[in-house]
Amino acid sequence: MDKFLIKGPCKIKGQVSISGSKNAALPILASTILFDKTVIIENLPRVKDIDTMVNLLKSLGSKIQFLNNKKTVKITKNKKQKIFAPYSLVKTMRAGILVLGPMIAKYHKSVTSLPGGCLIGARPVNYHLNALKKFGMMYEIKKGYIHAISKGKLKGTNFKFSNISVGATENSITAACLAKGKTILKNCAIEPEIKNDLTNFLNKAGAKIKWTGKRTCQIIGVNSLKETKYSVMGDRIETGTFCVAATLAKGDLLIKNFNPKLIQTELNLLKKTGATIKTSKDEIHIKGPQKIKNISNIVTKEYPNSLATDLQAQFMVLLCKANGRSTITESIFENRFMHVAELKRLGAKIIIKDNKAIIEGNTEFLGAELMSSDLRASAALVLAAIVAKGQSVINRIYHLDRGYEKIENKLRKIGVDIKRLS
Ligand code: EPZ
Repeated sequence: MDKFLIKGPCKIKGQVSISGSKNAALPILASTILFDKTVIIENLPRVKDIDTMVNLLKSLGSKIQFLNNKKTVKITKNKKQKIFAPYSLVKTMRAGILVLGPMIAKYHKSVTSLPGGCLIGARPVNYHLNALKKFGMMYEIKKGYIHAISKGKLKGTNFKFSNISVGATENSITAACLAKGKTILKNCAIEPEIKNDLTNFLNKAGAKIKWTGKRTCQIIGVNSLKETKYSVMGDRIETGTFCVAATLAKGDLLIKNFNPKLIQTELNLLKKTGATIKTSKDEIHIKGPQKIKNISNIVTKEYPNSLATDLQAQFMVLLCKANGRSTITESIFENRFMHVAELKRLGAKIIIKDNKAIIEGNTEFLGAELMSSDLRASAALVLAAIVAKGQSVINRIYHLDRGYEKIENKLRKIGVDIKRLS
């Protein structure tokens, strides 16, 4: 298993180009099941989860060609479409559940593995199933698989999500595209990956999706979607991770290919800690402060106006170096503090009370051997190692490879002493 060797402390200087968004690409790729015609998706990040989704689509019968050194896929459907999404693929990437909505809408039949949990939480799919049932999907769960059918086409429906869910919103929007009649979804998740990218992609292919309220989406079903080419947006969480890196390491970083308006909340928080930030249409120029200021209380919540849960671990590292006490409350996942034990091995002083982390600042990180646990926690360990005194080894970086494209190359280019050991 690969590991990273990082010698700190490093200063960060230079510029970095953001890759395509994993969390926009995954629902877009899953929604290609709705198509009969050829679809070309560009600006894909070269990360493990994309390969997993491509393999899942291939196992369902899609013919997929990688082009332009795997940043583009050309997807064509062949007649014999399968409807079995195996546990072997869905268990490694919970976003596998996103094939259920388009499959039931298109083929009125699906056998999809339950995703199973992961370290950050149980990852249930009840919100997905409750919503799809309202369209007329009937299902039974047997031996870890969702056996779903619908009597002919799904029917448009009015539905209000009991809780805001990114995946359940994505599954419902894609299913509604081919349903008969009008659907109105309320209390939707409105991350840019949904409200901008997934919506724009499907509408470009002839779907009729309209956001009629802050969290209300109206979809008029169509009979089919047309041949389409689409380029995926930049990765919001990769951008946030590099912004934290620059703030943490007294850096001077130009971040390209991302619209700063989509990460405004996190940029405002970084300004509060002392970062200097200048933005233009698709660039962020960020300088880290000499002294990092603490923030008394941050809460992760659904987009917008709160810290993204996928940036919680990264912000925690920054606040360890702040000149005073801070707290972070994790309100989205039930177990997303796996990085805390590892940060303590570097010297962090953090106390966990329920879903709140109390972070004593002014920490001197000393390099150590560390263990990655999940995708974003691993990113946080890399950030801590960058500013730690001495050498750190980070094990099991396959977690990182799921969601960050060639992160060691990007970090080396901006001054980080990092090596991948296979
Ligand atoms: C998406 O996961 C992202 N994944 C996650 O990013 C992200 O952390 C999460 O949204 C929240 O922003 C992708 O987009 C591929 P949810 P998702 O449904 O859709 C509970 C990363 O690091 N819930 O909004 O699974 C759930 O357990 C990943 O890139 C139910 O209880 O998130 C969680 O506590 C990690 N029942 C909360 O709701 C359900 O049916 C929010 O989940 C669905 C979710």
